[in-house]
This record gives sequence, C-alpha cells and structure tokens, in this order.
Amino acid sequence: MEERMVSADMQSADDSIEQRVRPQQLAQYIGQEKVKKNLDVFIEAAKMREECLDHVLLYGPPGLGKTTLSGIIAAEMGVQMRTTSGPAIERPGDLAAILTALEPGDVLFIDEIHRLNRVVEEVLYPAMEDFCIDIVIGKGPAARSVRLDLPPFTLVGATTRAGMLSAPLRDRFGVLARLEYYTEAELALIVKRTAEIFDTVIEDAAAIEVARRSRGTPRIANRLLRRVRDFAQVKGDGTVSLDVAVDALQQLQVDRLGLDHIDHKLLYGMIENYRGGPVGLETISATIGEEPETIEDVYEPYLLQIGFIQRTPRGRVVTPACYEHFQLEGPEQ
Ligand SMILES: Nc1ncnc2c1ncn2[C@@H]1O[C@H](COP(=O)(O)OP(=O)(O)OP(=O)(O)O)[C@@H](O)[C@H]1O
Ligand SMILES: [Mg+2]
Repeated sequence: MEERMVSADMQSADDSIEQRVRPQQLAQYIGQEKVKKNLDVFIEAAKMREECLDHVLLYGPPGLGKTTLSGIIAAEMGVQMRTTSGPAIERPGDLAAILTALEPGDVLFIDEIHRLNRVVEEVLYPAMEDFCIDIVIGKGPAARSVRLDLPPFTLVGATTRAGMLSAPLRDRFGVLARLEYYTEAELALIVKRTAEIFDTVIEDAAAIEVARRSRGTPRIANRLLRRVRDFAQVKGDGTVSLDVAVDALQQLQVDRLGLDHIDHKLLYGMIENYRGGPVGLETISATIGEEPETIEDVYEPYLLQIGFIQRTPRGRVVTPACYEHFQLEGPEQ
C-alpha cells in the first residue's frame, strides 16, 4: 500500500529497481518447478520447429510471478513482449490495433484477461486460432466484414481468477499453468537473490524470517526485504541480522505468519461482529472498508491456504486454527 503513495519521480526510480529485481531467464526464476520444467520443454520444442509457442494461460494469486514469467517466456523465445490488460482493451478496434502491430513471433501479454469484454473476446478467438481477425468496416447497410491476416504470435494471458474466464477462451490456450504459493525455502532464496542485487548483506536466518512472513508471495518477500533493509541502514550498520529483521517486521506489524493489519482487521471483524461467521463477502467488505474484489483476490486466498477461514455455502467461517493463532476462545457451538 505505502508504495502507491510515491511521487512520479520516485515511481520511476522504483520501476528501474523493479526491473533489476525481476528475473530475466527461466534459470533465475526460483520455484514453480513443475511449471518451469514444462515450459522449458515447450519453449525448446517450439524453437526447434521454428514456430511460435502455443498460447499460455498463467493463473494464480497476485504477486506470484505471472508478469515476470511472461517476460521470461518472451526472452527465452528471443522475441518482444507487448503488454496490455483486459480492462484497457475497450473495443474490438483497440484489440485489432494491437494485434496488427505485432511482429512475427511476438508475445502479447494480456494481464487480467478475465476482464476482457465479450465483444473483444470474440475478436480474440480467430486471432488465437487462425491468426486472423474479422473487422467490420462502415455502418448500417454499407457495413462489410473484412478479414485481416495477423503475424503468428503467442498470447500469454494472466489472471487471478481462472474461474471467471469463459470456457471458449480458456479452451484456446494450449498451455495452462497454475502458479502456487512458494515455500519458505524458495522465498528465502528469492530474498537472498534480491539482497545481492541491492548489495545488502543479509544473514541466512534473517532471510528465512522474512521468507516465513511473506505469505508465500515473492512480491511481499521483496517488499519486506526493502523495508527491513531500511531499518538495518538507519538503526544498525546496514547488515540485515536476524535481530534487525525481527524488530523491523514487528514495527511493520507483520506477525509471525506474515499476516498484516488488514488480515487482522478482516479476521477480528469476523470474530467480533459475527462470532466467526458464516458471514457473506459483501458484509465483510462493508465491515472493514475494503473492496470485495480486493478481499477475494488479495487477502482471502492465503487465509484459505493456511486454513484460517473456510468458504461455506452460507458464507465465510473463521476456523479453530485461526482462533488458536490469536489465542482466542472459539465461539460456543
Ligand atoms: N519465481 C520468482 N523468482 C524470483 N523472483 C520472483 C519470482 N516470481 C516473482 N518474483 C518477483 O516478485 C515480483 C512480483 O512478480 P510479478 O509482478 O510477476 O507477479 P504477478 O503474478 O504478475 O502479480 P499480479 O497478479 O499482481 O500481476 C516481481 O517483481 C519479481 O521480482
Ligand atoms: Mg502481474
């Protein structure tokens, strides 16, 4: 959150750091072994046949490396990546403009692809299948449809909600790759790699501590590392020791499972106002003042993963494991 409130200049400084931190090759991309192994084969095969890679759908919670992986696919294929997003493509003409500007073999990355509107989606079908589009020129009785050939390309779609993709769109992807939460060991490697890029010395135990509190998510791991490094610089000699890390993480209100104040607000909101549920998403949203989509995409997946909440037909329920973590008594049955 705090990172959104930066000036334009600082934002661009942030962007270039972001560029350096982002892995550029498959070999630098830590974890997701199954996905990586498969992609490696598909990329190799496509290159041997001198064809472009089949269309790839990447799905999973935010911050797990979908955008990064798309960039890596383009780099490994030796082509350019063009980036856009579902909500940015409003009309069929917008998509046609993007598609006709591609170079042969390019990767077209469409982020939040579940938010494409139907009309645009229908233009995408023949583009994906036959590398062509039908566009309508003119209006009324004079209108006619023209077929345009496109250069062959690879569509890489990313979504946090594979379930919201229409079946016809999903079926047109040859490769479906689901990204999983990272293990603590993988995140510790990511933290150490990023620290090295920053020229920051970090103790192994400190890297593990940051990893443990990163909710299985590289983006959070890198963000926590940046903040912990600030504390090390100001309060210590710049080295991120375990003590500095633990102190800093406490200051940042990130608890030992990586839950932050919004997770706390959400869980306490459910416990204090609704005796732990069942309670509907809209109600939770109104209680804590976060958008339902944000709750569903950003906060809930990890809480479900660690078994702190469950979804039931009647709404969300806080589990005994959660009460235990907060050292609270569960509701009486
Ligand atoms: N496997 C990985 N190894 C090392 N660093 C990674 C890895 N995956 C992601 N990262 C880092 O985590 C950050 C977030 O990754 P990325 O932006 O690709 O996530 P995303 O899945 O596209 O998120 P969103 O759904 O919010 O768009 C990147 O800056 C990248 O440096
Ligand atoms: Mg992304």
